[in-house]
Amino acid sequence: MGNSKNALKSPEKISRPALATVPRHVGIIMDGNGRWAKAKKLPRTMGHRQGAENLRHILEAAVDFGIEILTIYAFSTENWNRPKSEVKGLMNLFHYYFDRELDELAKNGVQLRHVGHMAGMSLSLQKKIRKAVEQTKNNNRLILNVAFNYGGRSEIVHAVQAIIKAGIPPEQVTESLFSRYLYTGGQPDPDLIIRTSGELRTSNFLPWQAAYAEYYITPVYWPDFNEAELYKALLEFNRRKRRFGGLNSDE
Ligand code: FPP
Repeated sequence: MGNSKNALKSPEKISRPALATVPRHVGIIMDGNGRWAKAKKLPRTMGHRQGAENLRHILEAAVDFGIEILTIYAFSTENWNRPKSEVKGLMNLFHYYFDRELDELAKNGVQLRHVGHMAGMSLSLQKKIRKAVEQTKNNNRLILNVAFNYGGRSEIVHAVQAIIKAGIPPEQVTESLFSRYLYTGGQPDPDLIIRTSGELRTSNFLPWQAAYAEYYITPVYWPDFNEAELYKALLEFNRRKRRFGGLNSDE
């Protein structure tokens, strides 16, 4: 991001027609790292590495397009069930990413937030995440929610537990109060959810928050999902007629 020497240059900026509407909050299910690697006869870990590299470009593009909040699905509560070697490779990658990218992200105005459970992660990773959140808390160019050790259903269960613990009477439990108890509390709901690599499912990603999100699914594997692909998703979002269960004035 930005113009520091460490920042990778994104592919030449191509001028594209301006978008009438830019979604404030975009969620991304970064799928297809494994298949990307397999297609190139590389180990799966290489796919994850390339996926992490790609994230830098997409963050830069998101800022350029004027997206305010990006929520990325980095590791789900179900991903612990993958082979030990893959989980270990992913954890190493997250450590490496925080070590290498944090200062750069902070310098470029990115506010990092963790969306998910701390418990279950190694103490060293918990420490890194806390440090990253603290170091970037006053930044306001882009909020990057990293969904890590995240599962939507368990997020809802946690919210229910917290509401009960807080002694809130049932009649005061409204949708807006409930939303505040989620990991994304205080943020607007995602307008657009992008899923790469073609699977037609939501995989326990933001089930409450994405109730009225538009979904965009592309066959492109995450490591190949570049700025031009993001622009295509935003163009498609502009074609959608959002009705939130009602009717638009021309219908
Ligand atoms: C899904 O691909 C991807 C993941 C489980 C991990 C996502 C992680 C990254 C992109 C790394 C970068 C993230 C950070 C925060 C540094 P898959 O393995 O399910 O692919 P497949 O469906 O083709 O097997």
